[in-house]
Amino acid sequence: MPDPFAFGFTPFARLRGVLIVFCAENLRFGAATQRVLSSMGDLVRRAGAADRFTGKNGSTLDIVAPSGLSLPRLVVVGTGKESDLKPQDFVKLGGIAMGKVPAAAAEATIFAEFASGALKSDQIAGLMLGARLRAYTFDRYKTKRKEGEERPKKVEVNFACANSSAAEKAWLRQAAIADGVVLARDLINEPANVLYPGEFARRASSLGKLGVNVEVLDVAAMRKLGMGALLGVGQGSVHESKLVIMRWNGGKRGSNPIAFIGKGVCFDTGGISIKPAQGMEDMKGDMAGAACVVGLMHALAARKAKINAIGAIGLVENMPDGKAQRPGDIVKTMSGQTIEIINTDAEGRLVLADVLHYVNKKFKPKFMINLATLTGAIIVALGQEYAGMFSNDDKLVERLTKAGQATGERVWRMPLGPEYDKMIDSKFADMKNTGGRWAGSITAAQLLQRFVGKTPWVHLDIAGTALGSPQTDINKSWSSGWGVRLLERLVEDYYER
Ligand code: BES
Ligand code: MN
Ligand code: ZN
Repeated sequence: MPDPFAFGFTPFARLRGVLIVFCAENLRFGAATQRVLSSMGDLVRRAGAADRFTGKNGSTLDIVAPSGLSLPRLVVVGTGKESDLKPQDFVKLGGIAMGKVPAAAAEATIFAEFASGALKSDQIAGLMLGARLRAYTFDRYKTKRKEGEERPKKVEVNFACANSSAAEKAWLRQAAIADGVVLARDLINEPANVLYPGEFARRASSLGKLGVNVEVLDVAAMRKLGMGALLGVGQGSVHESKLVIMRWNGGKRGSNPIAFIGKGVCFDTGGISIKPAQGMEDMKGDMAGAACVVGLMHALAARKAKINAIGAIGLVENMPDGKAQRPGDIVKTMSGQTIEIINTDAEGRLVLADVLHYVNKKFKPKFMINLATLTGAIIVALGQEYAGMFSNDDKLVERLTKAGQATGERVWRMPLGPEYDKMIDSKFADMKNTGGRWAGSITAAQLLQRFVGKTPWVHLDIAGTALGSPQTDINKSWSSGWGVRLLERLVEDYYER
């Protein structure tokens, strides 16, 4: 089912469908908005008074079938004090505006004007990004609709502005990012009977159409490379494990790439150390790290980012089976280090150990950032508001923290250290794959750190932020696509030439 939403531009004079306008505190409107509202006499003022609506940031006023306007509905969205607004607030306001378009509407016009005047093209593009993300739904498996929930086949959302060509240009960039987030959300929401490693690899391969070079390594290729840890996780599944390497070369020829690595456990039953039934369905999203990497590579390529970037995702399914790996098994990683399996449910770190080593060795990246729904313990520590951040590099930490504040996809640094590292020493092998209940997220990160050498590295534990996401103004879906906007911002602000 193709996406019904088409976002475009229109002059202020052409009003179609649901009309959405903005106002500042004390019901102050911009000039173009005022011209339209004047045809209704004092209707808006009276409606505002009746609803105690004054234009506070994020508040809304609904007027159905406004007399004097031949439109089905007028919605006023409050911006509050405009000088307080940061770029991210425009994204949020775009989401709020889109949320006021009823499901049955086929057309909406959003006035890209605030009380203080016309919006800049970047601000308009911010509104549009928020609207696009808010409009996202994952309903491809619903064959029936409740009454009133049917969407028309086509929904046109037009942003009224004076200079549409400048806005269009700004939007093209944001649309690339929006599409990356949507791609990540789709992959995460997709059930595991549909999205197994092979199918995931196929979907990642479609980035080829944007000029991304995509290479898929199968089990035989990984066996040759000696990736015993990744392969051990997947050996109980009927679906073949895959390693997908995506390369976007938009930067200087020959300059070392930056690298993003994702955990792609298409379903995590826990393996022989099987998980309880309660909530296990959420483990279809245990590939959210990989989905974020694919969404990011899409965004970078679609907006032709001036950077050389690698995206690498380890795709496996963790199943209990006669062929599955057991607690007590010892696997040899590509790096040569051995790992004793204590709990087959601590599988993400095993996958990442081999992918991190491979990327580091093969591409000599300037830095590596990995994303993984790695531990339940990070949800206990940080809830769903911050992702856990572990790193050997203060500069990367500072930059990611800033990018997090700017995008609202926030990260919180957690400690690493030799005392924690000791907790994963093993009686029989170089290390074991769990360090016990205490500091569960940290000992997981310590294992990863044993595979990154001296390369600047960040591990983002996104178990809390990527799945079962809280409903926000820009996300109503189970998966938020967390991380795409964060990392896109990091690249844009610090690494493009
Ligand atoms: N995929 C899970 C972590 C997870 C939990 C992600 C909840 C999203 C929501 C991971 O593979 C896992 O099972 N971790 C174990 C590690 C333990 C066995 C050391 C955990 O966190 O319990
Ligand atoms: Mn697990
Ligand atoms: Zn897992």
